[in-house]
Amino acid sequence: MLDPRTSSNGAGGPATDHGAPADLITVSSDQVFTLGNEHFGYVFRVAKAGVLEHLHYGPPLLDPASANQHHLHAGRPLSVEHRGIPDYSLRDLPQEYPTFGSSDFRSPALHGINGDGNSIFQLEYVSHEIVDGKPDLPGLPSARGDGSQTLRVTLRDALQKLEVTLSYTVYRDHGVLCRSGTIKNFGEKAVLLTDVFSSALDLPAADYEVLHLHGSWAAEFSEQRVPLPQGKFSIESSWGTSGAFHNPFVALLSPHTTEASGPVYATTLLYSGNFRIGAETSEFGSVRLLCGINPFNFQWRLEPGETFQTPEALHVYTSQGLREMSRSWHHFVRDRVSPLAFRHQPRPTYLNTWEATYFDLTQDRVLALADKARDVGVDMLVLDDGWFRGRQDDRSSLGDWEADADRFPDGIISLARQVRDKGLKFGLWFEPEAVSRRSQLYEQHPDWILHVPGREPSLGRNQLLLDLSRPEVVDHLIEVLDGYLASGVIDYVKWDMNRCMTEVGSAGWPNHRQLEVPHRYQLGLYRLLATLTRRHPNVLFENCASGGNRFDLGMLHYMAQGWISDLSEPIGRLDIIHGASYLYPLDTTAAYIGPSPNHQNGRDSSIGTRFRAGFFCAARGISLAEDDLARNAATLKTLMAEAKSTAAAMVGGDFYRIIKDPNEYCWQYSSAGGDQVFVAFFRVLSRVSEPFRRAHLVGLDAQAWYEHLETGQRYRGESLMHSGLPLPFGKMGSTGDDHGRLVPKRDFLSVLYTLRRVDGP
Ligand code: GLA
Repeated sequence: MLDPRTSSNGAGGPATDHGAPADLITVSSDQVFTLGNEHFGYVFRVAKAGVLEHLHYGPPLLDPASANQHHLHAGRPLSVEHRGIPDYSLRDLPQEYPTFGSSDFRSPALHGINGDGNSIFQLEYVSHEIVDGKPDLPGLPSARGDGSQTLRVTLRDALQKLEVTLSYTVYRDHGVLCRSGTIKNFGEKAVLLTDVFSSALDLPAADYEVLHLHGSWAAEFSEQRVPLPQGKFSIESSWGTSGAFHNPFVALLSPHTTEASGPVYATTLLYSGNFRIGAETSEFGSVRLLCGINPFNFQWRLEPGETFQTPEALHVYTSQGLREMSRSWHHFVRDRVSPLAFRHQPRPTYLNTWEATYFDLTQDRVLALADKARDVGVDMLVLDDGWFRGRQDDRSSLGDWEADADRFPDGIISLARQVRDKGLKFGLWFEPEAVSRRSQLYEQHPDWILHVPGREPSLGRNQLLLDLSRPEVVDHLIEVLDGYLASGVIDYVKWDMNRCMTEVGSAGWPNHRQLEVPHRYQLGLYRLLATLTRRHPNVLFENCASGGNRFDLGMLHYMAQGWISDLSEPIGRLDIIHGASYLYPLDTTAAYIGPSPNHQNGRDSSIGTRFRAGFFCAARGISLAEDDLARNAATLKTLMAEAKSTAAAMVGGDFYRIIKDPNEYCWQYSSAGGDQVFVAFFRVLSRVSEPFRRAHLVGLDAQAWYEHLETGQRYRGESLMHSGLPLPFGKMGSTGDDHGRLVPKRDFLSVLYTLRRVDGP
């Protein structure tokens, strides 16, 4: 329940029931708003004509009033004076929620066509309130608000009778600032919104670089860091999912920012559909960062009395480099975004049938695999694609979520019971949003797909997408999935989504609302996920979309973990895990030991390397056929025992990127509390005359002693951090194994070291 504490021009009060200190948000008598905590400060004020002028985002300021003097309101040639106020132009004024057409020519946060048919909106400050906690965003996932305060500032366009309420949430113990907006039409005419961003951030002129994560199928999360150009740089999706092509994440950095130091302004969007994060460098070098729903191909008709809610944008500022940025994201995602039920839960090890059997599945085969899975010590059998009526390949049956009677004569619930009777958990694959042309569901409801009249729908992987903008479609899916989950014998659901949206249109909405359908689809999807996860909080959901084609915080709000990529080959996957770790805690990721040669890129790799590349993912498993399982039974048993014994450590700890060059990766993971430290090192190609490499570990207790379990050697924390942990050295003819310092020279080298805090030397 929210508790309005102060309204118009009120300032902070005493500590609150929620334990949020009173000074997370203060407002001075001259209308300067100061937000922040020990991690950051954020300041803006009400300037002339009621414009919200941004003053500061960066380190916390002892004296926020000093930020009030930053911007010079100097007349410049070519400038236009906003509303005739002398020397006052919005052309280069840093703003909180800019509009277009009244002296500011940069991209606006809000744009559209008003009831008079023009696109001029002018927003003026009206009032504000500060509440403890954080209101939920109606219909959308959002971060939980415990330990926070929220400032809501209301702006109004009096002529167009449009009201914008900007929300800013600051947490006592996180460096994340949450922003969102609500747009309300209180006039008599409809307004067509075309651009309605969740946040705008106007940063001062400086040299910026941009770090972002791009990719493709089986190549997600490739990092790129480039100087921010003059003009516009944006990453976006118009595919209907957040997409593998650009993960919704941008960090603006200074050219000297490293893992360990330097300023970072990072942004993400808690949303799973079409998004844009754009940075525009103005003629004077200042940068406007806009984050929200992609305006391309988007329109929202706001009728009188209606409200539009933007998704939530999240921002992190740190002066301490990328490592600290990731730490902020990781802690926040774990504490405030991911489902609570799994926050501290070790994830079960599993055997997934996909790369083991593909569609070649029968009840007997699954039960035999379950026996093998149990023999090598995994906790859960996951029945992937291919179990439902007529599904022999990817050309049919999506939508008909009933067991194939020929191959699963006892049905899925009975199979689940039999698997559970063997002492395993049972997981099941669904692709709820999709439908095959060859399916009963499509025959019964041909208009339940996304489509536009008169055009042949394009097929992706031979399938179509259900129209989740229609409430009856969502209700149908709730009923079907709830039927399975209510049985109480499904422990895990792999929720897949294997195509993008084309011919996006809906038979459920009138013509003038067709461009609303992609966003309405997301609202339908979120209702579906919210209902199922509320009813079945203890079912572990894994998010998948052909791997990482929809890996974002919107999905991770409902699902504790995700399949970040279909590339199961370990060397190629290193970049994917490394890139994902900038934003996502590896608690949210899964990995398995797949076949070799690998089915996606044909590369051979040792079973140890396959295991180690995925070691830091919380959910570890296997996807191997019977003969492979038999051949490698002893090794798999050892590896799964290792996965099991470290499963608890793999949630809630800190992951650090220690080394990355194109040929070498070193990662560190310290368990919560820091008693166990794991270090993985990978060298892609062997080299001659290699250096003696060391990993400079981070975040250890400098005074404490750590025992290297593989070598028996003991080190002081300070020595591991400042002098470094010796890494393996490749030597021709060496017979040392992977854990020794001296290892045979070869490609695809991988080692995993465990350090345990001990009492003394
Ligand atoms: C997608 C997923 C895979 C697998 C298949 C099944 O490609 O990413 O993991 O589940 O679908 O069809």
